[in-house]
Amino acid sequence: MILISGNQTRTCNFAGMYLLAIESSCDDTSVAVVHNGVLLCNIVSSQLVHNTFGGVVPEMASREHLKNIVWVADAALQEAGITTRQLGAVAVTAGPGLPGSLMVGVSFAKGLALSLKKPLIAINHMEAHILSLLIQQPAPRFPFLCLVVSGGHTMLVVVKNWNQMAILGQTKDDAVGEAFDKCAKLLGLGYPGGKAIDDLARKGNPDAFAFPVGVVDGYNFSYSGVKTAVMYFVREKGEAFVQAQLADICASIQRALLKPLVQKSVLAMKQYDLSQIGIAGGVAANSGLRHWLSEICSQNNAELFVPDYQYCTDNAGMVGFAAWHKWQSGDFASPGMVTQPRLVVGQPL
Ligand code: KG4
Ligand code: ZN
Repeated sequence: MILISGNQTRTCNFAGMYLLAIESSCDDTSVAVVHNGVLLCNIVSSQLVHNTFGGVVPEMASREHLKNIVWVADAALQEAGITTRQLGAVAVTAGPGLPGSLMVGVSFAKGLALSLKKPLIAINHMEAHILSLLIQQPAPRFPFLCLVVSGGHTMLVVVKNWNQMAILGQTKDDAVGEAFDKCAKLLGLGYPGGKAIDDLARKGNPDAFAFPVGVVDGYNFSYSGVKTAVMYFVREKGEAFVQAQLADICASIQRALLKPLVQKSVLAMKQYDLSQIGIAGGVAANSGLRHWLSEICSQNNAELFVPDYQYCTDNAGMVGFAAWHKWQSGDFASPGMVTQPRLVVGQPL
């Protein structure tokens, strides 16, 4: 288990509104405390039990959340220097995500809100990823384009304001992070392997090999075919060749995975006359994507925004930040709220 604590702790001020935010949609148990819109802490406990299975095992993820949620919440309160009695609201990710994982966070949040007689705020996990671009300065101004790239999602979204977002297109099958992970597994780089491919790709030649990625209409994407192409490549070339050429292979795979993301982002900026683009989700940490998009942005007089690494991957800080804005407009969930594993961007909660 890895425990990461954001370095956002500020001087504690006992006036104003404290909000506790919970994120448990996949395999990270995370709790954050927000005070008047400022993040005081963002604790993330990552589940390492899945690494040996090469992917998240849903049943194990729920059990791990159940084991961890109380002490992660305790650690967050301690780091913020407050007790539950000082909380003015409780926020939680309602979806999308794994049903059992969401259930743990939502049940905990409902129980806490009920016992404290404070409002409960339901948050859309994907919208929280997008709004994480506004946590730090410089931040994009509405409207802006957002490329959401994670282990579960790949989509292009026009962000009109805090609660109005329109999906232009998304993956028809695998997410780009999933494709990174599956390719890494075939190359023996472990799980999750996006970072390992990124690190090796920096030392390799992206033109060394040609890996095809599915061509899809409009602003949609397809990543299910790339795994098969890499599997045949590894089988045909053999282990020794793959190991000797690993950096060039990673650079070539990464180029193929990133190309449709970059091309379609530029098209969307031009078509919708948007001069600001943000990237959100775990794959936003990819150095190749950041570099390529920033080059394209400077060629097109556009600005690129990338959240701090701690806000790229799953975290309750982004949930708390989105919840603070819902709290201000009195947008509270009913005590009978349920999890929404298939919730989409822009869908009312
Ligand atoms: O957003 P996230 O933490 O979890 C969800 O999927 O919701 O994203 C995790 C994904 C994994 O597929 C991981 O391999 C990928 O983000 N990832 C990266 C990098 N760092 C994390 N992919 C490419 N390059 C990276 N540097
Ligand atoms: Zn996520």
